[in-house]
Amino acid sequence: KSKMTSQTAKVVLSLDAETVSLLKDGVNFKKDPENGKCYIIYKGTEGFKACRNQCKHQGGLFIKDIEDLGGRTVKCTKHNWKLNLSTMKYVNPPDSFLQDELEVEILDDGGLRLVELSPLDPWLADPREPLQLKEGEVKVTYLTHACMELQLGQRRFMFDPWLKGPAFARGWWLLHESPADALDRLCAADLIYISHMHSDHLSYPTLKVLSERRPDAPIYVGDTSRPVFWYLEQSKVQLTNINVVPFGVWQNVDEHLRFMIMMDGVHPEMDTCIIVEYKGHMILNTVDCTRPNGGRLPQNVDLMMSDFAGGASGFPMTFYGGKYSDSWKATFIKNERKKLLNYKAQLVKSLQPKIYCPFAGYFVEAHPSDRWYSWV
Ligand code: FES
Repeated sequence: KSKMTSQTAKVVLSLDAETVSLLKDGVNFKKDPENGKCYIIYKGTEGFKACRNQCKHQGGLFIKDIEDLGGRTVKCTKHNWKLNLSTMKYVNPPDSFLQDELEVEILDDGGLRLVELSPLDPWLADPREPLQLKEGEVKVTYLTHACMELQLGQRRFMFDPWLKGPAFARGWWLLHESPADALDRLCAADLIYISHMHSDHLSYPTLKVLSERRPDAPIYVGDTSRPVFWYLEQSKVQLTNINVVPFGVWQNVDEHLRFMIMMDGVHPEMDTCIIVEYKGHMILNTVDCTRPNGGRLPQNVDLMMSDFAGGASGFPMTFYGGKYSDSWKATFIKNERKKLLNYKAQLVKSLQPKIYCPFAGYFVEAHPSDRWYSWV
């Protein structure tokens, strides 16, 4: 067996709030004063993008492209390749490479950090040839919201079981009642993956039933710095088989089945996504990740599933006065939804999964006062 080390997120450059406020629109070159390494930070209308100042061709250094009046492109000093920083695509040679991006983390004090995930595509380790599947050997069943059941040969894998009760302090309720046997299926699962701590994914009312019927059900979570089960002791739910899994390492279940949990680029401290591989066929579930694995994901997977609706934030519906008029809110929400859908559509287009399944947006806000939140 090859020895694998887990995927890490490393801060490669930190800027304080003052330096960040001085960044100009478009291309900014930055050097780490300690090790002399160079970075490019692009400030666009959609926020920041960043990468190392290193050309994919032969490692040349980029400078401003004076021929580009839009101010988005840089030019390599070695052989004149050009990179568009707003898309991170090389434009010359056309349709060639994508630049590896760094994650840009904005800090509460206005500072900024560039974070590098490494390795970038951990699923390439130890590849397996896809084997022919028999009809009915793999079955994927939607139960509710983000809860999916995968039947993979003899094994059952369950994702994010929220099968009963409310989430977010009675704020969210299931849109679809779960099938009558959903809890039985949960209790019979061989593997249960919980992607993150939000209560529409980590559902204590559901886990309470599980803990009463099968306290040693095998649960798998990523090794996030904020533990998924941070509230377990107070919750009085007794689960004795919670496995915290390192990021970016294949977990072998048997000779045909393995899975790998990866971190989110925007919220590596709490959000995760998963690849499940059965007989060489991949299922990718990016759940609620804002930028799953920093935007680097396997192409042509057999099935990809992801969220498609907005998240749990009450902003801006819970804000009154000032610019937060009803029409401002309506426009803001419309734009946010459009941005999210665009991003998801782009991601699906670029990854070309054989099947794409949108999920994890199926809840209602049932309290009468929640009509104010009814944009989902
Ligand atoms: S190294 Fe950049 S173009 Fe060759």
